[in-house]
Amino acid sequence: MAKKKIAVLTSGGDAPGMNAAVRAVVRSGIAKGMDVYGVYRGYNGLLNGDVEQMNLRSVSDIIGNGGTMLYTARSEEFKTLEGQKKAAAHCKELGISGVVVIGGDGSFAGARALTNAGVNCIGVPGTIDNDIACTEYTIGFDTAMNTAIGMIDKIRDTAQSHDRCSIVEVMGRRCGDIALQVGIACGATAILVPEIEYDVEKDVISRIVETQKTGKKHFIIVVAEGVGGVSDLAKYVEKRLGIEARATILGHVQRGGSPTLRDRVVASLMGHKAVDLLAEGKGNRVVAMNNGKIVDYDITEALDMPRIFDKNLYDIARTISI
Ligand code: ADP
Ligand code: F6P
Repeated sequence: MAKKKIAVLTSGGDAPGMNAAVRAVVRSGIAKGMDVYGVYRGYNGLLNGDVEQMNLRSVSDIIGNGGTMLYTARSEEFKTLEGQKKAAAHCKELGISGVVVIGGDGSFAGARALTNAGVNCIGVPGTIDNDIACTEYTIGFDTAMNTAIGMIDKIRDTAQSHDRCSIVEVMGRRCGDIALQVGIACGATAILVPEIEYDVEKDVISRIVETQKTGKKHFIIVVAEGVGGVSDLAKYVEKRLGIEARATILGHVQRGGSPTLRDRVVASLMGHKAVDLLAEGKGNRVVAMNNGKIVDYDITEALDMPRIFDKNLYDIARTISI
């Protein structure tokens, strides 16, 4: 019987741990007797035929590297039906019957489209944002948060030395998970996230004033990217309270760096699971974490799930960071 051929690609924003997932797909596929191909630059690689067979050594020494050895991209052409047909035709020419797509929600919509075009696809959640509803964890989230707290700890040193208020924007697109967790971990006086409506007087100014009354003179405010406006907020705090304020946007530093243990292990488990699903002849599934276990869902079901924000954690943060 002909060997089963599968491929792996990374798509959308890169995330630390994507390499660990690629490594797991390549090695699990080979262990199952499959030929495994790496596709370069996301869906673009399928459109341009930028595809290479991988062996056990192709993925040596990458588990600790940030970024993605397969590179990544956002592909407008693949969003069109024509593009999807072209990508499926290239897969068929190469005999590739299944593709593991490591990326976010957008990449999963692409995986569903490619499955509909005749190539079984399995999505693996890879994004620092933790914004995919079906899974409690996305590859890259832990590393990004640890990078952010390292940076904010440094910012706190200077804020404390000057009795200042530092207002720090963290990434997350429309999701406040990074801000919430990082805010707790850094003892932020206020955390602003897109999921919870806020009032600047009540949720920032009053909290600073209450904290000042107990003798504290420096403050960290963590703001999610989906809320934004850190420079304006710093100006407002200065004007309103007469204390110096500085704004910092952490930006892409959060996307890089060596993945943490958690990201390496979760990525390895999820990559392995994706190959199991392809080996069973399944497609149109996404791998997810549910109560710490690796599970899978139908892609459409996964994309339709509502995201739930951890309001309890947010309330606890308000209680203890004052
Ligand atoms: P992420 O996967 O991180 O959410 P994007 O939303 O940028 O990132 O999606 C990555 C890529 O997935 C896009 O550039 C496009 O090629 C593909 N994609 C996104 N949405 C769709 C869609 N609705 N149909 C087909 N392909 C899509
Ligand atoms: O999805 C990851 C992420 O870093 C988001 O947090 C951010 O909104 C976006 O990607 C930035 O995208 P780009 O790579 O286009 O700068």
